[in-house]
Amino acid sequence: MKKILTSLALLGLVVVGVETASTGAIAAEEAHNAAAPTHFPIDQPKEMDWSFAGPFGTYDKAQLQRGLKVYKEVCAACHSMNLVAFRTLEGLGYSEGQVKTLAAEYTIHDGPNDAGDMFDRPGKPSDYFPAPFANEQAAAASNGGAAPPDMSLLAKARGVERGFPRFVFDIFTQYAQGGPDYIHSLLTGYDETPPAGMVIPEGTHYNPYFLSGVSLKMPKPLSDGQVTYDDGAPQTVDQYSRDVSAFLMWAAEPHMEDRKKTGFRVLVFLLLFGALVYLTKRKVWEGVTH
Ligand code: HEC
Repeated sequence: MKKILTSLALLGLVVVGVETASTGAIAAEEAHNAAAPTHFPIDQPKEMDWSFAGPFGTYDKAQLQRGLKVYKEVCAACHSMNLVAFRTLEGLGYSEGQVKTLAAEYTIHDGPNDAGDMFDRPGKPSDYFPAPFANEQAAAASNGGAAPPDMSLLAKARGVERGFPRFVFDIFTQYAQGGPDYIHSLLTGYDETPPAGMVIPEGTHYNPYFLSGVSLKMPKPLSDGQVTYDDGAPQTVDQYSRDVSAFLMWAAEPHMEDRKKTGFRVLVFLLLFGALVYLTKRKVWEGVTH
């Protein structure tokens, strides 16, 4: 036992040492050429307090509804969300009737009809969010050459690598919020000024949280007061960013709560089952000398 404890303590020391050494190295490197960084993102995403974090996390439905509003009124002008059907919005706490009304606000290009023509009709709950552009080329052409990525799975598709030793601790804290942390930091990261001497390519916008460079083609999408909330939540860029990031997490994983609940039940079952199997083994071999 003592040996195990000593080795654990040693391992802890090594882990702390490696972490200090690596952050120290990164800091030194940044100090040398802040204007020409070679590793991205320049700044690590801020870790936020999400209601859906951890083994018992649940979505905050009011927040998801606000996030949907931000998506509809701001992001949907450029970003599609091809895999999300209106009917699934019942998961945000809307009634069937509300979803019908919401779907009917959209015009869906459908067809062909009996005459062989394509036609427009109001949306139904079974439809998917229509895309703002006809195709990826059109999307790229309107956005300075970079097509805005589809948002259906964006919160799962993006995330900054956590590196050693953080990913080890993440196993125990069940950290799985890399996507929303990244999106929130990206959306709130536009106001920082680039270090002196840094070259920002024309038509792009500096953002120290962007995963793949010093700047991106998306201009700052949000500003204070842009979206009206009717539940009294603050109408600030920070709040909008939290809400839309939470909404995108829901869009990417609408059944997360069920998954966590099932996982917990399975673990409890396995523990009880394991105990029973152990007791059975003891009983069966009770009288046998070995
Ligand atoms: C004016 C059009 C426009 C609007 C509005 C817009 N975006 Fe974007 N977005 C883009 C473009 C273009 C890119 C691709 C940027 C690039 O790769 O340089 C992008 C990329 C992104 C990315 C991916 C960055 C990466 O790591 O690749 C995220 C996340 C994102 N947008 C979130 C949002 C959210 C959330 C909103 C709404 C609050 C929003 N965007 C509104 C145009 C827009």
